[in-house]
Amino acid sequence: MEQATVERGAWTSKFGFILAAAGSAVGLGNVWRFPYITAQNGGGAFVLLYLLFVVIIGWPIMIAEFAVGRAAERNPVGAFRVLAPKTIWYIVGGLGVACGVGILSYYSVVAGWTVGYFFKMLLGEFSSKMTPDQAAETFRHFAADPVNAVGYTFLFLGLTAIVVMGGVSQGIERSVKLMMPLLFILLLLLIVRALTLEGAGAGIRFYLKPDFSKISGGTVVMALGQALFSLSLGMGTMMTYGSYLNKKESIITASADVCFYDTLIAVMAGFLIFPTLFAMKIDSTGGPGLVFVVLPAIFHKMFLGQLFGAAFFLLLAIAALTSTISLLEVGVAYLVDERKWRRRSAALVLTLIAAIVSLPSALSFGTLPHLNDLWGLGITFLDLMNILVGNYFLTIGAFLLSVFVGYRWGIQALRREVEQGGRRFYGYRVFAFLIRFVCPVAILMIFAYILATKNYF
Ligand code: TRP
Repeated sequence: MEQATVERGAWTSKFGFILAAAGSAVGLGNVWRFPYITAQNGGGAFVLLYLLFVVIIGWPIMIAEFAVGRAAERNPVGAFRVLAPKTIWYIVGGLGVACGVGILSYYSVVAGWTVGYFFKMLLGEFSSKMTPDQAAETFRHFAADPVNAVGYTFLFLGLTAIVVMGGVSQGIERSVKLMMPLLFILLLLLIVRALTLEGAGAGIRFYLKPDFSKISGGTVVMALGQALFSLSLGMGTMMTYGSYLNKKESIITASADVCFYDTLIAVMAGFLIFPTLFAMKIDSTGGPGLVFVVLPAIFHKMFLGQLFGAAFFLLLAIAALTSTISLLEVGVAYLVDERKWRRRSAALVLTLIAAIVSLPSALSFGTLPHLNDLWGLGITFLDLMNILVGNYFLTIGAFLLSVFVGYRWGIQALRREVEQGGRRFYGYRVFAFLIRFVCPVAILMIFAYILATKNYF
């Protein structure tokens, strides 16, 4: 086992592990998706619901993933094989590995746009007289251009591969120790700028004032889905990262830290986005295109806007990169542990596969008639991947994991893992109740709701 640990890699410190896991969690989901979903779902009321789900569902599932990964010291497929030998549970791990490549393929497209926009901002390609309509046209043009779309996607995948090829401590841990503090500083800087804009107060009021009339079944579904996605749960990312964690560290405090940082960054992002929008008197329900359409138009009306704009897209790109490396690492860990591949070959081959799978997503904003409007439903191929893999698969994965830990591997086994190194797991009864009943039932209810209302998208 000692030997295996050396070959697989390990975090050099608890802090490095927390930064890496928080880096995985903090991503486009926080800065790009969280604000606009909040805007569409009743502002403060949605935020409260989201916080509740982070604590009662996200945190227990993260504890479960860390514990399963560390107990087996394996990738998701291997972890289920070790903890439930001669069963078909390992298929859940396989689903996770496939999900990793699937999410990576479309996430890198959006991440690529952030890099493209970083350069556009830096070069001052937007004029201060640009109207939102013109900014929308610019974005459509940019995303539709196949050379841009594919080029930046591949560039981003390449960056991801370089970090992962470096290994757990020398590649991932070293890079997040640089990137996470930078991300935090950029975010603080941008928030100060946003809050000092004239009219920022209206944005804050909109963001924080709970509108309970907007809470419906659909809102609850969105809040849970967003919590799982944002915390990188449901597909073995945290399991894989947990497998490199030293036995003497506390899983409970580490997972609490990661949940806290992820939520903090999401809430902070709201303080950047809403004041900016309201100061410029732009309708807040901009939807997914918000950050690529509305913000560029705004930045160029500000003093030093070119620099703030570039800083904003750099922030997005960094947040995305610390997430894509975690997505790639799941598959790499699988090939290294189970198939005895060398890390570098594993990273290269998986990146190549992700690059091929990314093509329909990258090209789904262009003129190809089918990819940008699947079945006449007005959704692009990228949207489809996001809904299918990013929503359904993760939720199913989280459900299966809670059943596995609650009923197959068992609460006592988990408790033993958490209590390694002479610790005590004080809240384990509460944890047992949450993982055995609350998590699976909540997820089942959500699926029932989706089926009953036929709100599949
Ligand atoms: N959590 C990241 C975000 O909010 C995305 C992400 C990275 C992810 N790894 C994941 C989502 C694994 C689900 C599963 O942007």
